[in-house]
Amino acid sequence: MPEVYNWQLGRRATYRYEEKHPKEQFTFVFNTNRCIACQTCTMAHKSTWTFSKGQEYMWWNNVETKPYGGYPQFWDWKILKMLEQSNPGQNVWNVRKVDNEKPHGVYEGVTIFEAPEKIGLNQEAIGYVPTDEEWRFPNFGEDTAHGREFTQSREGTFGGDNGCKSVLPEHKIWFFYLQRICNHCTYPGCLAACPRKAIYKRQEDGIVLIDQSRCRGYKKCVEQCPYKKPMFRGTTRISEKCIACYPRIEGLDPLTEGDQMETRCMAACVGKIRLQGLVKVQNGRWVSQMDNPQYYLIRHRKVALPLYPQFGTEPNGYYIPSRHVPRAYSQQMFGPGVDHSIDQYMVPDRNLLAILQLFRTTQRIIFSYKVEKGPKIFETNIHGKKFTMHNDTVIGMNRKGKEIIRVTVEEPFYVRPEEHPGAI
Ligand code: SF4
Ligand code: SF4
Ligand code: F3S
Repeated sequence: MPEVYNWQLGRRATYRYEEKHPKEQFTFVFNTNRCIACQTCTMAHKSTWTFSKGQEYMWWNNVETKPYGGYPQFWDWKILKMLEQSNPGQNVWNVRKVDNEKPHGVYEGVTIFEAPEKIGLNQEAIGYVPTDEEWRFPNFGEDTAHGREFTQSREGTFGGDNGCKSVLPEHKIWFFYLQRICNHCTYPGCLAACPRKAIYKRQEDGIVLIDQSRCRGYKKCVEQCPYKKPMFRGTTRISEKCIACYPRIEGLDPLTEGDQMETRCMAACVGKIRLQGLVKVQNGRWVSQMDNPQYYLIRHRKVALPLYPQFGTEPNGYYIPSRHVPRAYSQQMFGPGVDHSIDQYMVPDRNLLAILQLFRTTQRIIFSYKVEKGPKIFETNIHGKKFTMHNDTVIGMNRKGKEIIRVTVEEPFYVRPEEHPGAI
C-alpha cells in the first residue's frame, strides 16, 4: 500500500492511493467557545441542498452536544473503540518531536487505514454502516451535560496517555457544541473505500465530491468515512454528501459579483463562530501565508486543531477547543495541541484578537488580512498573565487584494437620539 505524508500525524501513513494534492485546499475554522447551538447553519444547509424526497434524514451540517450527542448516534465513540481494539493501549502521541513538519508531534498509533492490517481485515479502512435507528435522531442528547468529574478516571477516552499534562482547573459539569460538516479530507476515507472510484477530490480547491453518475450505491463510503458524512439516498439508491457549496466557492453567485463566497452554513452563522477560506498548497505542503487567516490560525499559531487527527484522513476542518472542557476529552478529540491552543485563546495577543473579529463578518472569502493599530482601551490580568486590549482595525481582502470587510476590535455602539426612541 502506498505511503503518504500526513502533517497532522507528523509522519508518513498508509493510504490506498499515491500522494496527490490540489492547488488550493478548502479549510474552515470553527470556534467551539462561541457556538450557541441555534442550528441556523444546519437549517441554512438543509434548505439549500437536502429538502427533497429521500433526503429527509440528511443533515450534511449538524451541531451535536458533546459528550453524549452525535449524528449518527455514537459515531465517534464507535470509531474510537474500533481503533483502540485494533491496537490496545498503543494509540499514543509522542510530543517530544515537534517541528514545522510535525507541528503537533508524532502519532505513534494506528490510523483507520492502518488498523485493518493489524486485525487481519481485508479492506481499505475500519468502519461500520450506522443503523437506521442511529440516523433517526439528528439532535439526540442536546444540552445534556456530563455530570461527574472526568479527568481523574479519563472516563470516555480510549487508549493510553496522549503525552499531554493538564493542571488547570476544569468544570465538573460540562458540555459543548461540536459543529460538523464533511472535512474535505486530504486522504478521504470515503474516496479510498469506493470500489467504483466514484469519489474524487477537486484539483482546484480540494473539495471532495461523489460523482452521481458513477455511484452505484455500494455504501462503502458510508462505512469507511470515520466522520459519517456520506449519506445513502433510498429514493435514488446512490449516496450524497456535503459539496462545500462549490458554486459559491467558485464565485458563481451573482450577489458578490464574482468574488468567491463562503458556504451557506458558514455565512448563516449567528454565533460568529465560523471562518472559511482556502490555503495554497505547493509540492504537497501548505505554502506559508502569514496574512491568510486560515494559515495563521491553523499552522502558524496552532490555535485551530483538526478533529480526530488520529483517524488519519487529514481532515481540513479545524476547531478552537472549548476552554471549560476536561482536557483529556478535548485531547482525545483534537490531539495534543489542546493546551497550547487554549493558552493562546484565553490571553490573545493583538494579532490573534484582531483575526478573531473577522469570523462571520462577510459572505466573501477572506484571502488576506491586515491590522491598523488603534489606541489601548483595556488592561487586566487573566490567569496571572497580562492582557492588553487595543482598539485595532482589521481589514479583510478578497483574492485580488481588494478590501471586502473592515471591523474594529471594540464593537462600535450608537446612542439612539431622544426624539426617535423606537427607531432602529
Ligand atoms: Fe470523505 Fe468523510 Fe473526509 Fe468528507 S469527512 S472527505 S466524507 S472521509
Ligand atoms: Fe451544506 Fe454547503 Fe455547509 Fe456542505 S458546506 S454542509 S453543502 S451548506
Ligand atoms: Fe461508491 Fe459510496 Fe457510491 S462506495 S458506489 S460512492 S455509495
